[in-house]
Amino acid sequence: MKTGHDPLDYHGFINPPVVRASTVLFPDAASMETPRQKYTYGTRGTPTTDALCSAVNELEGAAGTIIVPSGLAAVTLPFLAYLSPGDHALIVDSVYGNVRHFCDTMLARFGVEIEYYHPSIGADIETLFKPNTKLVHLEAPGSNTFDIQDVPAISAVAHRHDAVVTMDNTWATPFYFRPLDFGVDVSIQASTKYPAGHGDILLGTVSANARSWKKLRQANGALGICGAADDAYQVLRGLRTMGVRLERHQSSALAVAQWLEARDDVARVLHPALPSFPDHAIWKRDFKGSSGVFSFVLAVGRHDDFKAKAHAFLDALEIFGLGYSWGGFASLALHVDLNERQILQPPAEGPVLRLHVGLEDVDDLKEDLKRGFAAVL
Ligand SMILES: Cc1ncc(COP(=O)(O)O)c(C=O)c1O
Repeated sequence: MKTGHDPLDYHGFINPPVVRASTVLFPDAASMETPRQKYTYGTRGTPTTDALCSAVNELEGAAGTIIVPSGLAAVTLPFLAYLSPGDHALIVDSVYGNVRHFCDTMLARFGVEIEYYHPSIGADIETLFKPNTKLVHLEAPGSNTFDIQDVPAISAVAHRHDAVVTMDNTWATPFYFRPLDFGVDVSIQASTKYPAGHGDILLGTVSANARSWKKLRQANGALGICGAADDAYQVLRGLRTMGVRLERHQSSALAVAQWLEARDDVARVLHPALPSFPDHAIWKRDFKGSSGVFSFVLAVGRHDDFKAKAHAFLDALEIFGLGYSWGGFASLALHVDLNERQILQPPAEGPVLRLHVGLEDVDDLKEDLKRGFAAVL
C-alpha cells in the first residue's frame, strides 16, 4: 500500500501525524552547528509535508517536490529559481492570467524579457529562441480556452538550447498526464484544485527532475515560501480519493460538453477530449483522461452585448455557483475575459463561459444550464 510515508514510523497509523512546527530542538550545541538529525526548522520540512512530497514525487516520477502556499506561487517560484536579469523567457499565450501579471510586472521589473508564444507552435518554437532564452513555460490545456500543446516537441527544442521547461499541469493532474515523462523538467500543480478537491485549501506543489531539482530547492530555501502542515495533510488526504473523483468529473463534464455541442445556441465547445477540438489528436496521443473544467462559446447575435448576454446566462443559474477556482465538489461557472492575450484572439461568435463540472447529478446540471439559455433568448 502506498501512503506517502512508512506507517511503521507512526505506530502503524495509516496516515502521518500533523506536525505543526517552526522550532525543532537539538540535543546539544554541537549538533546545532553540524546537524545530524533529519529536521532542523519548520520551513525546511516536517514529517507531514515530507509525506505529501514523497507521494507527489511518486505520482510525478520526480527527483524532488516542494510545497508552496498556492498554485500561483507554484508557478512564480520556479521562475525566480531559474531566471536572472537579462534572461529571455518564452511563456504560452494561454497562460493562467495571474502568471501573466507576475511576468509583466515583477519579472519585467527584475529585467527578464518576456515573450508570449502561440500554444500550437510545436517545434517551430525554435524560431523564437535567442542566446539568452533560459526558460519555456507551458500550460496544457491552457487556461479558459484549453489549447493543447505539443509538449515533447517543445521540450526537445528547449533542451537543445539548454533552457529549462516548466509546465502547469493542474488540469490533467499527474493521474492523466505526467509532464516529466514527456520531456518537461518541472511539473507544477495547483493542489488547490483536484488534489484538495473541496474548495477549502490553497496549496501548490512543484516537482523537478534530477537536473533541475537543486536550483528549485535552493530557491525554496532562500525565499522561505513553504506550505503549512495542516494544508499538506488535507491535500495528502485528498490524493487518496482523487482518482475516483476525477473519473466522475471526467464523465460528467464530457456528458455536459457533448450535450452543449448539440445545441444551436452554442457556437463551440472548448474541451480537448471532443474530436471537434483543434489539436484533439495531440491531446489523445499524450493524455490518459480529461478533467471537469472546460468552456463553451455562447452563440449570440453579432451586434449583441456579449457581456450582458453572459451575465444574463450566469445570473439564471441555481446549481452552478459563480466563483473562481475549480477542481472541487461543487459546479462553478464564470464569464471568461480573454482581452489580455497578445496572440490568441477571443472567439467572434459570442462570450466564452467556463464551467467546472462538479460531482452533482448530470441531469440536474443540464436543467440548470437550460435556465441560463432561456435567460439569453
Ligand atoms: C491553471 C491554473 N494554475 C494555477 C492556478 C493558481 O492556483 P491558486 O488558486 O492555488 O493560486 C489556477 C487558479 O485558478 C489555475 O487555473
